[in-house]
Amino acid sequence: MNNISLALAFARTLAIDALEAQTLLLHVLNRPLYDRAWLLLNDTLELTGEQHTRYQQALRQLLDNMPLAYLTGVQAFHGLDLQVTPDVLVPRADTETLVDWALSLGLDQASVLDLGTGSGAIALALKHKRPAWTVQAVDQSTQALAVAQKNASRLQLDVVFTQSDWFSRVQSKFDLIVANPPYIAQGDPHLPGLVHEPPSALVSGPLGLDDLQAIVDQAPTFLKAQGWLLLEHGYDQAAAVCDLLRQKGFTQVQSRDDLAGIARCSGGVRPEVK
Ligand SMILES: C[S@@+](CC[C@H](N)C(=O)[O-])C[C@H]1O[C@@H](n2cnc3c(N)ncnc32)[C@H](O)[C@@H]1O
Repeated sequence: MNNISLALAFARTLAIDALEAQTLLLHVLNRPLYDRAWLLLNDTLELTGEQHTRYQQALRQLLDNMPLAYLTGVQAFHGLDLQVTPDVLVPRADTETLVDWALSLGLDQASVLDLGTGSGAIALALKHKRPAWTVQAVDQSTQALAVAQKNASRLQLDVVFTQSDWFSRVQSKFDLIVANPPYIAQGDPHLPGLVHEPPSALVSGPLGLDDLQAIVDQAPTFLKAQGWLLLEHGYDQAAAVCDLLRQKGFTQVQSRDDLAGIARCSGGVRPEVK
């Protein structure tokens, strides 16, 4: 398989998704990752020995459940190209639901906190779309914060990053708090397919609700009057998260569907302080 056509045919024999194989090949050939038309126009181009070896290695890693974004180092999210490493969760399209909900609240000069920012995806997408917002983002992982900080610098988006165990080092009150915390239950059957992503970004107690509960419990202290808390959660957790919010006194509790029509985010307005 020394030319482009044969390299893509080889990936098909391994049942590798055609789009992923094309993207890998573009990466190995040092071409823009969107330039699939170029592959078609140059399908007889020979790969060098080194390109051939790198492509084969990368195909093997894909078969071993390595996310494509770790192999290319880039993931598109809400119109931004984010650099990602195995220190951060690969941002998912589902999380754009949370960003779109936050943008739709009609806030002008809002102060916003992103809890568990990872690559910076949510914080950077919000700052990109609402330059007037002041955005702070926290993560407990210093490695993740380094990735997020680099993304912010490269994209020239002014976000303040803080190393913090949820709210432990947060000092202000916010109009809006957003979070996509770990929410997978220990022992969940999907976990073996996610071995390459940081466990600290994924798993949260026996039901997957420990971090969501911790955030709901502490958030009222860090929200201004009428402030919103918006949370991403698992495909089957909307009812449980809405219950947690109501038990804590949040009002206007509601959920939003992801692109697959699954209730993926829930949120509410800060309870009145008596
Ligand atoms: C599911 S990932 C979300 C990453 C990013 N916000 C996104 O949507 O792509 C959860 C993030 O929460 C962080 N995290 C986990 N426990 C935390 C804690 N106690 N305090 C702060 N961040 C935490 C992880 O390091 C990880 O970056």
